[in-house]
Amino acid sequence: MDNRSLLVSDLDGTLLGDDEALDRFAEWYETHRSSLYLAYATGRFFDPVAALVESTSLPEPDVVIGGVGTEIHSYPDGEPIGDWPRCLGRWDPEGIQAVLAEFDGLEPQPGKFQTDFKLSYYGHDLDSRLLIKLRRRLATARYCVEVVYSSDRDLDLLPVGINKGSATAWLASRWFFRPRQILVAGDTGNDSSMFTRGYRGIVVGNAHEELQSLPHANIYHSEYEYADGVLDGLQYWLAETEDTLVASGLTEGGNLW
Ligand code: GLC
Repeated sequence: MDNRSLLVSDLDGTLLGDDEALDRFAEWYETHRSSLYLAYATGRFFDPVAALVESTSLPEPDVVIGGVGTEIHSYPDGEPIGDWPRCLGRWDPEGIQAVLAEFDGLEPQPGKFQTDFKLSYYGHDLDSRLLIKLRRRLATARYCVEVVYSSDRDLDLLPVGINKGSATAWLASRWFFRPRQILVAGDTGNDSSMFTRGYRGIVVGNAHEELQSLPHANIYHSEYEYADGVLDGLQYWLAETEDTLVASGLTEGGNLW
């Protein structure tokens, strides 16, 4: 059993957003690489993530969970890991697009943001009633899909059961991680599925309302923003792990990290 932890972090608005904070995170991670696997869970696809790793101080991850959980690739080779996603419900992109076309205020995102398993739209400041109506309409048409709304702007339609949280769980089971070894960090709606699985959560200080209102049990709400918030949360959870081990007599209290 590998004792390392796994950090699964969102990018935009979480690790990305404040370059100096990202430098601080990268510097910290450099000295903790041996105790922490790193995965990015993002709405972006693999190639744009690789380009960001090249052009910014984002550390090289071990894995990229891309397209809001619809893809899982190892880094840097970009090889898909396993046979993900596994679609269990009725997934018919054309039919689903026809239902979405009935709704005003939704505009398909450019083609480069769409794949066979991710249909994405822009919909500014959609209210919850419209989202309920949309979910009902899809259900009536017998489409059982994930409807993920983020940042008061992005609407993603994904096969049912596929999201950042289930992709993280799939990775965790493949790599034999226990829930308490997994830390997840995010700022907006497409991250919320990672916070409902009993992992150790980090919500950054600049998070949108949809995450700010999550219950505090097992979720650390940092007062710091962007990568500083992730770093703050990591230090909180890693210290907590050490305290637990000390209390259980499993360590002499040496610095685990
Ligand atoms: C990224 C993707 C976009 C998606 C959004 C929210 O910005 O490019 O397609 O809608 O994340 O998941």
